[in-house]
Amino acid sequence: MATLKFLSFLILQLFVVAKYCEGVEVGYYKKTCPNVEAIVKETTAHYISRAPTLAAPLLRMHFHDCFVRGCDGSVLLNSTKGKQAEKDAIPNQSLRGFQVIDAAKSALEKECPGTVSCSDILALVARDAVSLINGPTWPVPLGRRDGRVSILSEASKNLPTPFDNFTTLKTTFGFLGLNVKDLVVLSGGHTIGMSHCFSFSSRMYNFTGKGDMDPNMDINYINRLKIKCKPNDVTTIVEMDPGSFKSFDTDYYTMVAKRRGLFASDAALLSNSQTKDYVLSQLKPHASTFFKDFGESMMKMGKIGVLTGKAGEIRKHCAFRN
Ligand code: HEM
Repeated sequence: MATLKFLSFLILQLFVVAKYCEGVEVGYYKKTCPNVEAIVKETTAHYISRAPTLAAPLLRMHFHDCFVRGCDGSVLLNSTKGKQAEKDAIPNQSLRGFQVIDAAKSALEKECPGTVSCSDILALVARDAVSLINGPTWPVPLGRRDGRVSILSEASKNLPTPFDNFTTLKTTFGFLGLNVKDLVVLSGGHTIGMSHCFSFSSRMYNFTGKGDMDPNMDINYINRLKIKCKPNDVTTIVEMDPGSFKSFDTDYYTMVAKRRGLFASDAALLSNSQTKDYVLSQLKPHASTFFKDFGESMMKMGKIGVLTGKAGEIRKHCAFRN
């Protein structure tokens, strides 16, 4: 009798745990939308094969989503009734590729209406975009639900800036449960993509407000960048990892080690012994652990502040709350 009582208590506990501690899991839609991964991959491949440079902003979009209110698709929402959303914040104004998310969503709404969240779609698209340009792949636990709130000032406040030093970066990442290793590994995302001159021009023209340069940046590199980026240039964009900005590889660490990281936040990785050791450990491509590490840190980042169970909603259109 006592055993029976204990067993039923155990079953009740398990039920409670399952109901209230629902997390994200690989294969979450296996009964409700079994083709979700194939559909997202096909859509992403359709766009990336025509425009491989879209991979970078799609990866960045997932990062910007997760760092503000957790990975809840809030970066995808348009402003409503004159209230500006995360999308309108300065760092998000250079995001591109929303059409890929919308296309995947409409394909999924045909196959399994009202089932797959926009935040899950974004996590899958970011993974597929990276792997389609010969980067690593990783399992994406699913089951996120979409948030209903998106506020411009939260994005301005919570996203790291290219001017941040190591301590600030460590605090920002740490606040979200990401450690120093995640910081140096995820910064490796800068192996692809482009940056506006204004994100780093103070390092070349006015580092401490006295018309000086950042002593932590290679002078030859500064001179080369100055040809492309004139002072107060707000339109020009440059490759972040020149020569291989379309391919996901370990070149970012080679650049950082040569003091050619574009942002002060990239250079900051040389100012701490743990992150510096990691940068130097990635220089021999055959000994690099970057691909494996990147997948692991992306899985961790993808779990920040997720909404599950009955929280939030499954949006019908990714740019609008229901
Ligand atoms: C460590 C803190 C980080 C800072 C301060 C930072 C800052 C920036 C800045 C300023 C840009 C250029 C924006 C522009 O001028 O157009 C950029 C681009 C980019 N970032 Fe980061 N980032 C950080 C971490 C990350 C992470 C964690 C990822 C992804 C895992 C990432 C992926 C990218 C990509 C792919 C681009 C290129 C986007 C494009 O080509 O449109 N960044 N980042």
